[in-house]
Amino acid sequence: MERRYLHPFKTHRLPHVVTDVLIIGSGVAGLRAAIAAGDSADVLLVSKQHLSESNTFYAQGGIATVMRADDSFESHIADTLATGCGLSEREAVETVVREAPARIEELIQWGANFDRETDGRLSFGREGGHSAARIIHALGDATGRELANSLLRVAMQRESISILEHTFILDLITLEGRCAGALAWTQQRGLFAIFARKTLLASGGAGALFRETTNPAIATADGHAMAWRAQAELRDMEMMQFHPTTIYIAGSARFLVSEAVRGEGATLIDRSGEAFMKAYHPMADLAPRDVVSRSILAQMAKTQTTHVFLDCRKMGENGFKSRFPGIYQVCQQFAINPGHQPIPVHPSAHYMVGGVRCDLMGRSSVENLYAIGEASYTGLHGANRLASNSLIEALVFGKRAGEDAAANVVGHQRPFEVPRFTAEIPRSQRTELDMADVRSSLKSLLWRNVGIERHGPRLVEAAEIIDFWSHYVLDKVFDSPAGWELQNMLEVARLMTVAAATRTETRGVHYRTDFPELNDVDWRCHLDWSAQARVPEKAPVS
Ligand code: FAD
Ligand code: SIN
Repeated sequence: MERRYLHPFKTHRLPHVVTDVLIIGSGVAGLRAAIAAGDSADVLLVSKQHLSESNTFYAQGGIATVMRADDSFESHIADTLATGCGLSEREAVETVVREAPARIEELIQWGANFDRETDGRLSFGREGGHSAARIIHALGDATGRELANSLLRVAMQRESISILEHTFILDLITLEGRCAGALAWTQQRGLFAIFARKTLLASGGAGALFRETTNPAIATADGHAMAWRAQAELRDMEMMQFHPTTIYIAGSARFLVSEAVRGEGATLIDRSGEAFMKAYHPMADLAPRDVVSRSILAQMAKTQTTHVFLDCRKMGENGFKSRFPGIYQVCQQFAINPGHQPIPVHPSAHYMVGGVRCDLMGRSSVENLYAIGEASYTGLHGANRLASNSLIEALVFGKRAGEDAAANVVGHQRPFEVPRFTAEIPRSQRTELDMADVRSSLKSLLWRNVGIERHGPRLVEAAEIIDFWSHYVLDKVFDSPAGWELQNMLEVARLMTVAAATRTETRGVHYRTDFPELNDVDWRCHLDWSAQARVPEKAPVS
């Protein structure tokens, strides 16, 4: 079946650039891949907004790695597999856990300034689901900023790496099933093509599909949607992780309060002051985050409130301020002093576990296309992501994919031949909807019907509403990112909702109130979306 692009074009009429390796995304995955590929190939890295506007930049808690004598790879592997609830792929888990220390050592050599104890040893924090303190962090609660800045410094020094900011990628260009680059747009240049021998999708997550989210507004799942249109396989799209603690002030944007705060001894309490988590799980406040998010909802229902509180008073004002300076500053903006008052918190959409299915080198099912970081599904996280396992996954697979892509373009001395073809889109006969209204309604719909608690009829209702909107939005041709993002959000919302309706069990982050039990007999399997499918298909866990 002929594929549909978001915008019509004729390759021979479009301005174009050519590169060995195109990387879509300037977060940790894209930057690490660029450095790896840039050792032997020409790289062009693009981001749709400013370079620092990424999930990476906002990461707080840290990076999981086994680098202490009293910790072990086996323990990190076991914790990751346990949290993944039967869907993690063991080889991917072993790869990330065992390669993690080397990725951290090289970052330190590149100048990344991780927090240290007074004796100079790395400082390790504790987070939910980890049976050891193995989370390194930077500037207290600004790990992502330090990580991104360190990688950017290295990338910018490499002559082989060019960077384009404020460059929106609409679609991957495919020719006879192979990826040949991407269709790009900037305000100044308009549409142009980037032809590449290898394309790496490092476009991040999908949090912005939900009304309540820790993610910045850029997280509109563009990469998932463009991979889908390019007929790449996607896996386990129903698996969206919700973070238990974002600051809850009605009317304000949600701001993450790191799990590391609970790692330092803070407790969740309800409005009567009861520390309720011990009633829900033996690990209490440090239970895996899906358990904590659901427990918060249950306690909110029990106490008839819109939020609970995070009690950090044991740390004292100075203790809190020195360990979590960024969160302290944000609390101050809301006139909350965490040393003296509990912080009002509520769960939010946080991390897209499902993604573009790829192998241990980041290769997707489409030739010449790789996926890395939050856009990918490597098998590490299974049905749930262990805290602080995401930045490390992106570092490990970013390097692997970057090296693999470069190794496969080096030696290609033939000049790149610009393909000649035309992508046409028939004119829409249907009326237009108010896009801003659809976007905001879609976010509310997903939060309400496809959020932490899911129920069959409400999922079916959500899928019908998404189909209705899609009917009027997906047949249009837009001329700016707002329209393209909405089209991407609708495409991915449908995949997520239909997959959530299909999986009639509870597993990891996917909680069905109508099927509250884990069902290994029928459902210890992935749900794979192959090109153009209306429903996902079961695939075995290897
Ligand atoms: P991102 O960092 O999100 O980068 C995506 C890039 O793709 C951006 O540059 C964006 O501009 C670009 N892009 C997207 N679409 C397009 C398009 N159409 N055209 C061009 N460019 C595009 N994980 C941990 O392991 N530890 C933590 O402590 C932690 N804390 C977190 C705190 C917060 C508040 C959030 C939101 C996440 C946190 N995570 C944490 C998760 C982690 O930060 C992300 O999973 C990870 O950073 C994803 O990296 P990435 O490179 O895949 O994507
Ligand atoms: C946090 O700091 O709580 C976020 C950690 C993560 O998402 O892994």
